[in-house]
Amino acid sequence: MTTVNKDYLNLRGSYLFSTIAKKVAAFQEANPDQRIIRLGIGDVTQPLAPTIIEALHKAVDEMADAATFRGYAPDLGYEFLRNRIAEHDFAKRGCQIYPDEIFVSDGAKSDSGNIQEIFGRDNVIAVCDPVYPVYVDTNVMAGRTGSFNEELGMWDRVIYMPCTAENGFAPEIPEQVPDLIYLCFPNNPTGATVTKDRLQEWVDYANQHGSVIIYDAAYEAYITEADVPHSIYECEGARTCAIELHSFSKNAGFTGLRLGYTVIPKDLVVEGTMVHSLWARRHGTKYNGAPYIVQRAGEAVYTEEGQAQIKEQVAYYMRNAKAIKEGLAAAGYSVSGGVNAPYIWLKTPDGLTSWEFFDRLLDQAKVVGTPGVGFGPSGEGYFRLTAFGRYEDTLEALERIKTI
Ligand code: MLT
Repeated sequence: MTTVNKDYLNLRGSYLFSTIAKKVAAFQEANPDQRIIRLGIGDVTQPLAPTIIEALHKAVDEMADAATFRGYAPDLGYEFLRNRIAEHDFAKRGCQIYPDEIFVSDGAKSDSGNIQEIFGRDNVIAVCDPVYPVYVDTNVMAGRTGSFNEELGMWDRVIYMPCTAENGFAPEIPEQVPDLIYLCFPNNPTGATVTKDRLQEWVDYANQHGSVIIYDAAYEAYITEADVPHSIYECEGARTCAIELHSFSKNAGFTGLRLGYTVIPKDLVVEGTMVHSLWARRHGTKYNGAPYIVQRAGEAVYTEEGQAQIKEQVAYYMRNAKAIKEGLAAAGYSVSGGVNAPYIWLKTPDGLTSWEFFDRLLDQAKVVGTPGVGFGPSGEGYFRLTAFGRYEDTLEALERIKTI
């Protein structure tokens, strides 16, 4: 008899952003005349930059001509893109990462979910609390997280590293040694960052204990402060303990186009096995690569014009972040994030739970945000707003929030 993968039955409810989307759709159906402003999921709203569009058109035309048509992409991604990434995202920052250590993919979400597959099922993971839900959910699917404690809202085989106002929303190194450590800086959802010195401590710790850090750098383009690292490979020794995930979604607006990459240095060896070989094997077997035209669009991101245009977009969203942060602070909210990240993390007013505040905001202001508790138990009593909306909508949302 066919059976299902029971680990999937352990998942709690639906994916956070699907739950929110359903609630918002129900509200809209019941209130068809209301204009809802969506500052929930971190989805971009600005169109792709002209240089990227031009590259897409050109690549589409190439696909129409037998002389330039392309079929399957190389396993790791096209060299034209991997060379640009290695040069721009790493060599220029003094990081030693080679093009053949870069795996091009359809985005950081899938890579951050799939990467756990190449590690033992008995590995113990450590996550920030609150955390991007994909890291935990995919480990639940893999049967790695033990049982769920309803009262605590925690899995008993997961090490939670609370990120609270007291520690500046930056995790402390845990007492129990984890096997896999998920870190995301600038952080989703809190918008917090770590300094290079602090990140070096994590790298030293991982090397000392034989742990592997899965470092999500999806928001690095939003860094404005000088002592915040753009890559974990800026730290000495990271080649032997860290995997890094990157996305083109947030820096270049590819949420709908889909492109990302994962770096696995060949010096990262676990139980005598190069982790790079395992991911290469997985990539070769399960994946046929991001489309040629999308990889050409990715290449365009690294041209001089591409860089200038995407910097403008990042600045556009960061203007939103500043407006939200300053506007809410002036209205008496306690807010953080928004300086090196497109997320603003606020304390819910009047002792409301995260979901109560979600409902109040939707009912009274017709604004959608993300309840902090959806990212983990330490997110209870907090709320996330994204800076990825249109500027005019962001200002209107602020005005509406101030009236509730
Ligand atoms: C978020 O809102 O946390 C992100 O947009 C989700 C994602 O990137 O998958």
